[in-house]
Amino acid sequence: MEVIIQKNAEAAAQLTAALIGDALRLKPNLVLGLATGRTMERLYGILAEKHQREGLDFSLAVTFNLDEYIGLPAADPNSYRSYMNHYLFNNINIDPRNTHLPNGTAHDLDAGCRDYEETIRDHGGIDLQLLGIGVTGHIGFNEPLSAMRSRTRCKALTPGTIAQNAPQFEKPEDMPKRAITMGVGTILDSRRCIMLVTGESKADIVAKAVEGPITSMISATALQLHERCTVIVDEDAAAKLTQQDYYRWIFQNEPEWEPYR
Ligand code: GLP
Repeated sequence: MEVIIQKNAEAAAQLTAALIGDALRLKPNLVLGLATGRTMERLYGILAEKHQREGLDFSLAVTFNLDEYIGLPAADPNSYRSYMNHYLFNNINIDPRNTHLPNGTAHDLDAGCRDYEETIRDHGGIDLQLLGIGVTGHIGFNEPLSAMRSRTRCKALTPGTIAQNAPQFEKPEDMPKRAITMGVGTILDSRRCIMLVTGESKADIVAKAVEGPITSMISATALQLHERCTVIVDEDAAAKLTQQDYYRWIFQNEPEWEPYR
């Protein structure tokens, strides 16, 4: 794992967008894993700007989202499909047929989960998986006790996650209590992971995820097993990391990061 501390949320989102832009220029048919949540809103805004101003080309890119609520049709304003259309897909030149999210209204949800895994495999696997972190330490919707080798499946949400996300619903009680999520194993299979975390409300959980013991109680700790995982945090989210000086030193001194300083 490597940790990059940026001054504020804007700089963290800019660096993440720059890395995604580089990956896409290097491989125009990039298979990109995407995340939702408030943290990603600005990042997607920057990617849309890069498309509009710099011609960043998504025409051959393929995307797979981490998760979707069970029971919300794609057209529901609170579905993650609507979120993605609004914040990213409608503002770039991606072919909508190349954008994939789990189907939360499938007649047979388990078969839909198996199909999702198969479609990822058919595309050669995920090149770059973008991740946020929930207050419970989940990645995707891999709530506590998610198996480290879990695949895409249905998952019941914890009261903590429901409390975190319900305010985004017009009627908070309408928030689904279950979701489909890529598994921890699915995420670990991606060739590269970038986790973007900002804000002081995430400082405790980031410290546990990055520096704590690996445990299925906090699925983000599984990223410590990934060979190429970059965690990009702002100073507020980094506040409880014990090795901040070391992480800053690496970023300042490693030639790989030269273009981003
Ligand atoms: C949801 C998503 C997660 C995301 C989390 C963080 O729970 N399923 O993938 O990481 O939100 O959300 P926020 O950025 O709003 O804190």
